[in-house]
Amino acid sequence: MTNHLLDHTAEDTFLMCAPDHFEVSYVINPWMAGNIAHGNRSVAMEQWLALVEAIGQVAKIKMMPAMPGVPDLVFTANAGVVLGNKVVLSRFRHVERQAEEVYFDAAFTAHGFEVLTLPPELPFEGAGDALMDRSENLLWFGHGHRSDIACATRLSELLEIEVQPLKLVDARFYHLDTCFCPLAGGYVMYFPEAFDAASQAEIMARVPADKRIIVSSEDALHFACNTVNSGRHIFLNQASDALVAQLQAHGFVVHQTALTEFLKAGGAAKCLTLKLNEPHQSAAQAAR
Ligand code: ARG
Repeated sequence: MTNHLLDHTAEDTFLMCAPDHFEVSYVINPWMAGNIAHGNRSVAMEQWLALVEAIGQVAKIKMMPAMPGVPDLVFTANAGVVLGNKVVLSRFRHVERQAEEVYFDAAFTAHGFEVLTLPPELPFEGAGDALMDRSENLLWFGHGHRSDIACATRLSELLEIEVQPLKLVDARFYHLDTCFCPLAGGYVMYFPEAFDAASQAEIMARVPADKRIIVSSEDALHFACNTVNSGRHIFLNQASDALVAQLQAHGFVVHQTALTEFLKAGGAAKCLTLKLNEPHQSAAQAAR
């Protein structure tokens, strides 16, 4: 039962954007503090290319154009949330990132998506905070830092899907994808302390104990939860031997690829990608 889902070789497609203009030039999360002008763009480019190379072994990658003046555009996870051929476009909380919205809108239109928007007063940061479960037709939604809780109802209506809000309470884990990752086979890898008690209880109520992969604070601070998952493959910045062993025991193959330059901006592997193929789970399961 466990492994046949992982054996399914998905032809996943991820959207990425080259770090031609990547730098830390403002501070909108605790990771960026002290890092203004402390980056090395050629190292960032090498690390990003290594991630492209690694993911490219198992999935397709579509590139969107890099643009000057929007240094965080590399974090395509924040473009919007995709379901089927629809995407709900992000509306960034901080003015520093709002200029990215038109570029993400253009990229989605170029890839044939129907682009939907939320009411103007509601900040929403896409697949940074909205993650599809991998076994149920359910959207996990992080709020408390960047995305507004009121988006939960709107997302549910626009995408016709059940939404489970989760409240984030640690400023270092300011997006859901920094501390929570649904994986193939219905597993969920997460750092519990990043959530309030009620949200921890919701996760435990929805995800059976044998499907929960608990991440230590040490691994979480290395952005281990910020994982790109395609079938049985997992791509992340860094994981302890214990976490690697735990993931392997569930049938996953772990690829560690250093993304330290992007950690200076508060991002890693998952933030640098957006999965473009997100079928409704019921349809996906029927097709198996
Ligand atoms: N500097 C960016 C920000 O604070 C990093 C975004 C990382 N993306 C993510 N999906 N967690 O918005």
